[in-house]
Amino acid sequence: MNVLRVLLVGNGGRENAIAAALARSAREIELLNYATAVNPGLEELCEEIHLGGSLTDVDEIVAYAQAQKVTHAVVGPEAPLIAGVADGLAAVGVAVMGPTQALAQLEGSKAYTRNLLKEYKLDYSPVYRVFTDGGMVEAREAFYNRFDGQIVVKADGLCGGKGVLVAEEHFHSFAEADEFAVAAIEQFGRVVFEEKLVGVEFSLIAITDGTTLHTCLPVQDYKRAHDGDTGPNTGGMGAITDVDGTLPFLEPEHFEAARRILTHTLAAVQDDTGQTYRGVLFGGFMITHSGVKVIEFNCRFGDPECQNILTMLVSDFGEVLERTCDGTLGEMLMLEFSAEAVVTKYLCPDGYPDAPVKGEAVVVPEITPENVSVYYSSVGSEGGKLLLKGSRAIAVTATGPTLAEANEACESHLSHFSGPLFYRSDIGTAELLDRYAARLS
Ligand code: AMP
Ligand code: GLY
Repeated sequence: MNVLRVLLVGNGGRENAIAAALARSAREIELLNYATAVNPGLEELCEEIHLGGSLTDVDEIVAYAQAQKVTHAVVGPEAPLIAGVADGLAAVGVAVMGPTQALAQLEGSKAYTRNLLKEYKLDYSPVYRVFTDGGMVEAREAFYNRFDGQIVVKADGLCGGKGVLVAEEHFHSFAEADEFAVAAIEQFGRVVFEEKLVGVEFSLIAITDGTTLHTCLPVQDYKRAHDGDTGPNTGGMGAITDVDGTLPFLEPEHFEAARRILTHTLAAVQDDTGQTYRGVLFGGFMITHSGVKVIEFNCRFGDPECQNILTMLVSDFGEVLERTCDGTLGEMLMLEFSAEAVVTKYLCPDGYPDAPVKGEAVVVPEITPENVSVYYSSVGSEGGKLLLKGSRAIAVTATGPTLAEANEACESHLSHFSGPLFYRSDIGTAELLDRYAARLS
């Protein structure tokens, strides 16, 4: 079998999990990393780390791939994909796990995606309207009033998690919502107003070669910084999956609906663009009283959803990568996952995300139990010390025969780290899950 010379783009906890999954592969893999900072977790797993200026510098990434004669690439974050890195790499003969720029609009443009679903008669969206004219105040106010202010306003471009404003969480009046809307139109040319859905969110991530679509484990992630879903939004503080690929509130029909939506959306976006989607298709869904609705799509693994999924993956991820790229994913009948429960929690610097401490040392436990994986993210190694760099620092992923036991194992390992750190202790507990279930009763 040929050696796969793989370029991994990105350097967060998700990419550490991708590299660890490739390291378990039976394929012979030489892994190279294009990064903006050295991730100590990736340092151990990669032959070389190339420090580049930016993850959206397509030319530099392509030049590095060519110089290194890579055969395959896997792109972790969305920004390089939306910037066209898959197109650039494919043009020089690299097989890429990650969609082209046109296909990545599914994540890059909320208006594109809502309009695509509508055009293909895929009735999975909340009521929405796209505004392109900053002057149409009355029409926006009418939309706001139609839903008694219970709306969500979405900027039509990448905003690093700050592009979505939800009624009651981020604004309390039309004036506040519209100030953001007008600024978003100025910046991106479009803004989306949506009816605010009420229910329970979950993620279903699939891997596709454009023809076959294999779903991964469903995951619930937790975006708010503090216990009880309070505090500012973050990239994600943790994620759970219960035994046998379930979630406590997720009925089999919800899973099937999400899977169907992913399949239909894949067909629609390929038809619309005339291109083949090879990579990860991530659906963010809400279970509502009127069925499963689409909150958003992403064109890559979630972080920390990826840590849950790839820790549990029993199938060979090297084979998955190769088959996704060459269009033979159908040769694998399904993706196989461990039947245990899994809990990931992020250790974050005190003050994260608004005013995180930086440069302080973190002490990591010397021994990691067999059912625990540690994935590094925003930490750097300096003079034999591990230092905080300001964003989510270290993800701890633990498995167990029940969700409670997976959570216990995760908490137990987390308690051995020291430094100015915090994490959410409510993730994975029955109390938090009961609160979600109540929203559906
Ligand atoms: P997005 O970037 O589209 O995932 O939005 C970020 C978060 O905003 C989601 O995870 C949801 O919690 C929330 N959100 C987005 N759209 C809606 C909606 N139509 N109704 C309720 N909440 C939403
Ligand atoms: N954890 C959410 C995301 O990666 O989009």
